[in-house]
Amino acid sequence: MMNVSDNIKYVGVDDLDIDLFESQYVVPEGMSYNSYVILDEKTVVMDTVDARKTDEWINNVKAALGGRNLDYIVCLHMEPDHAGSMMKALETFPTAKVVGNAKTFTYMAQFFDVNLEGKKVEVKDGESLSLGNHNLTFVCAPMVHWPEVMVAYESSEKVLFAADAFGKFGAISKDDGDWACEARRYYFNICGKYGVQVQSLLKKAAALDIKTIAPLHGPVLKENLGYYIDLYNTWSSYGVESEGVLVAFASIHGNTRKAAEKIASILEKQGAKKVVVSDLSRDDEAEVIEDAFRYGRMIIAAPTYDGGLFPPMESFLSHLKSKNYQKRTVGIIENGTWAPMSGKFMKAALEAMKDIKICETVVTIKSALKENQEDSLVALAKEVLA
Ligand code: FEO
Repeated sequence: MMNVSDNIKYVGVDDLDIDLFESQYVVPEGMSYNSYVILDEKTVVMDTVDARKTDEWINNVKAALGGRNLDYIVCLHMEPDHAGSMMKALETFPTAKVVGNAKTFTYMAQFFDVNLEGKKVEVKDGESLSLGNHNLTFVCAPMVHWPEVMVAYESSEKVLFAADAFGKFGAISKDDGDWACEARRYYFNICGKYGVQVQSLLKKAAALDIKTIAPLHGPVLKENLGYYIDLYNTWSSYGVESEGVLVAFASIHGNTRKAAEKIASILEKQGAKKVVVSDLSRDDEAEVIEDAFRYGRMIIAAPTYDGGLFPPMESFLSHLKSKNYQKRTVGIIENGTWAPMSGKFMKAALEAMKDIKICETVVTIKSALKENQEDSLVALAKEVLA
């Protein structure tokens, strides 16, 4: 059981049936929608859960309340994976008031036809709600990951209710203790664009004495908090987490793949600490995006298609741009049988990003890699490692 303490109970749910989180991310280990009940003179539930799991959540909340009334429903984030059970919560706990900020209530009215007259407790950045011994202070965290997001700090037990921050893919019941892998994939794909805003939240959090981080997805974090905070600091500042090179390729008939594999082995021979090769047509794109941010260097290889760029590479670069990919060194391998154009498009996509050092050597394959092209691959590998 993942209770934070005797008086802060975990009432979240696991979703093991979901095919794609946000209708786009594979979650082979499911997903958790976290929610917490605080028991004091007043009782509070921190966020609801996705409408897919309303009934199970309501039962958990009732069990935690042990027959007591619910005084407040706090809404830190209006996205439906957390606020999706709000209507049912209001129906089940008719005397409960809803705590949110002005934007929370604007969005709530957009999602639901709900009359909250006499039920709204509107808070501003820095305001507090006393529950008796427990005291919640709300801190606005705009764009981590929506504009209305708040985190809440409970000062008596030193708990940070962190909203989506410090969340991860994967159900709690499937958690294997490896936090970083799925937290990184979650962070870069869901919050990656908002590094500046995450940095500002981390600065606010640094002023607090935090003993427990209670996120909206994934396990409650109680030990070694510096590890998680340091990773978040690296990720949100677009720093390099691990030394290594990502070789991301898209290949129609396997010839571009061979070039990607060849340069990967050259990189290894030249002493690259780690080389990761990913097939953009078959591997989980979200995982490749995660690796692009994890490592400081990348080689992209793709063929020309319809006079443009082969779509899996086009999609990858467009996602990297939208996630604010920056401060990296990138090399290009292009392929084309009659008019190789993919290099031009890959270069243009990289030039539209911030602080990308594009290697001067561009390797052009005309259909299939030839033995006499090894020198140019070596030159590119040296440049990307320089
Ligand atoms: Fe977990 Fe932005 O919702």
